Formats: sequence, C-alpha cells, structure tokens
Amino acid sequence: MKIISSIDLFAGVGGMRIALDKAIKKLGFKDNCKLYSEINIYCQQTYQANFPNTNLIEDLKTLKKSEIKKRIPDHDILLAGFPCQPFSKAGVSKRKSLDMKHGLEDKKQGDLFFNILDIINIKKPKAFLLENVQHLMNYDNGNILKLILKLLRNNYYVPEPEILDAKDFGLAQQRKRIFIVGFLDKNTDFIYPKPTFKKTIVSDFLDRYPKKKYIISNLLWKSHKKRRLRNEKANKGFGYKLSYPRDKYTRTISSRYFKDGGECLIYRGENKNPRMLSPREVFRLQGFPEKFKIPVSNTQAYQQAGNAVPINVVERICYNILKYLMTKNINYKKVA
Ligand SMILES: C[S@@+](CC[C@H](N)C(=O)[O-])C[C@H]1O[C@@H](n2cnc3c(N)ncnc32)[C@H](O)[C@@H]1O
Repeated sequence: MKIISSIDLFAGVGGMRIALDKAIKKLGFKDNCKLYSEINIYCQQTYQANFPNTNLIEDLKTLKKSEIKKRIPDHDILLAGFPCQPFSKAGVSKRKSLDMKHGLEDKKQGDLFFNILDIINIKKPKAFLLENVQHLMNYDNGNILKLILKLLRNNYYVPEPEILDAKDFGLAQQRKRIFIVGFLDKNTDFIYPKPTFKKTIVSDFLDRYPKKKYIISNLLWKSHKKRRLRNEKANKGFGYKLSYPRDKYTRTISSRYFKDGGECLIYRGENKNPRMLSPREVFRLQGFPEKFKIPVSNTQAYQQAGNAVPINVVERICYNILKYLMTKNINYKKVA
C-alpha cells in the first residue's frame, strides 16, 4: 500500500479533506494529511473533533514567504477552498456599499490567493485543487480569473476551470462552484468528472424525526411573507423559498442560513408553519457522512456547513486527479 500526502488550506471543517481521503481509499491508497490551516476557532474545534492530531497553522497570512520551505511539509496534493466573500455576489456588493476593496485587492481576504500561490511554487506539490464561488468566473469581466490562471500556469499545467453543480452529483442541493486543478507535470490531459445525475430528492436528506424547535415562529413566518410581497412589488427576487420533501433539490444553502432559514424552509402541510433544516441536514445536503462530529453551537454549525464544499463533487474530481497521477506512474512513499 502507498501513502498519498496532502495539506488542507482554508480548511473550514475539512470538506475537501474528507473528499480526497475517500478517493484515496477507493483507489487502495492510504491518506496522510500533514497540515491544515484555519483561522476560525469554531472551525478548528470541529476539525479537531473529526481529525485529531493534525498540525495547524491558524492564520496563513502570518506565514512569511521565507518560512514556507521550513514550516510547510512536503506533500503530494494541496487542497484550498480559499475565502469566497471577496468574489461572491453578496460579498462584492457589501464591500462596494462600504467603499471597501474587493476581489484580489481585498487585503484581508482577497489576496489570500497569493499565499496559496507562494506555497504551490515553493513546495511544488504534484497536484492542487482550488475551490471558489462560481462568480469568480465573471468577476471583473473574467479578468481576475485570467490573472489567477496566468500566475498558476507559470509552473503548472492548469486546464480551463469548470463549474460543477452538487445537484448533478447525487446531492439534493443546487450549489455551483468553480474548481481549478493543476499538475506539476505539464504533459497532462486531465478531464473533469462528468455528472452522475444520480436521482435524489430532498427527503432523502431530511431527519426522520425532525425536532419541533426547527419550526419557525408565527412572527418569523409573517415577516418572511411580508418581505416576499415587498420584493415582488419591487421586482427584487422572491425572498424565502419553500422546499417540498419531494423536490429534486433545494436552493444553495449559504453560511447565513442560521439567520432566518429563508433559502430553504421545509413545507409541513397547509396552514402549518414551515421548519428550518437542522445543522445535520445541511451537512447531509453537502454530502458529509453521518459519523461527522458537530461539537459546536447550531449557529456555528450552520455557518460551517454553509461554507463547506459538496463532498460528492470534490471526491469525483480528486478521483480523476489520482487516476491521472497513477497513469503517470508517479511514485508515492511506501508504507513501511
Ligand atoms: C470557504 S471556507 C472553506 C470551507 C472548506 N472547504 C470546507 O469544506 O469546510 C474558507 C475558510 O477559510 C478560513 N480563513 C479565512 N482567512 C484565513 C486565514 N488568514 N488563514 C487561515 N484560514 C482562513 C475561514 O475561516 C473559512 O473557514
């Protein structure tokens, strides 16, 4: 058996790692994640509960370029779901309204891409996988993505990125994300996975006995309906969305879901208030396994699940990355 090593940057609660480890095991290899980086203490709590004893760098920004060689271990595959707020539609309009910089010019979060780039160029993993919101494709007329690709392509083969949707990969949630893969070996013909179109419906992901506490109050239900009327009049979208258990998929569940559940309220019958999803249900809609531990408050758990990657999609991409590396006969460390 051989070991495939990785590092997990902007790790959140480890969605990318779960997906990679599943693909590694499917191919009969052993996984070894050597390090994760995550600044948020609640994410760290969840990460540690699920992956104890992984070395941590809290704030990747504090890692100086000159320290990368020493502090970042050698690894085969680099994973990074870098912060998406500076590129997301909501994030850009919020930053514009506050007269703040956005995109790569956002010094707090946007330019974190350059930290990833430095690590890639100095440590030279065999492959990397980056994930972000689909809006990155069109942000600043596509110029930011062009710049990102140009910089990555200096040392790596980077095929055109693809937007893949969780609902096409056996998850009952519409969630489009952009994926960027790169290979140190420039003589590559990588292909992204094709949708599986595995049929699922929302109820496949719901708790069998949902707790009463997730039913929204009369006051909140009234205010959702009021806001919807206001939005319709102003031609500003729909407001809340009722999801029926037999629906093929829900809307994208964001990290703001905890506020009022507007993106997805589960229908419970006529004249009954709908209910919010439980945190476990949101993790399920992202493809997290049942055994995944959630040691934090519901508010934190909703944010963590809403920020995570859809595991089914990432697992398929990782599988193709590994398959490709195997056909190239790239050597991995042998387990003693
Ligand atoms: C989009 S989320 C990644 C979610 C992850 N892919 C998952 O499946 O859970 C981005 C993460 O980057 C973290 N982050 C932001 N700035 C950071 C920094 N300077 N150093 C390390 N982590 C950071 C955030 O706390 C957040 O959890």
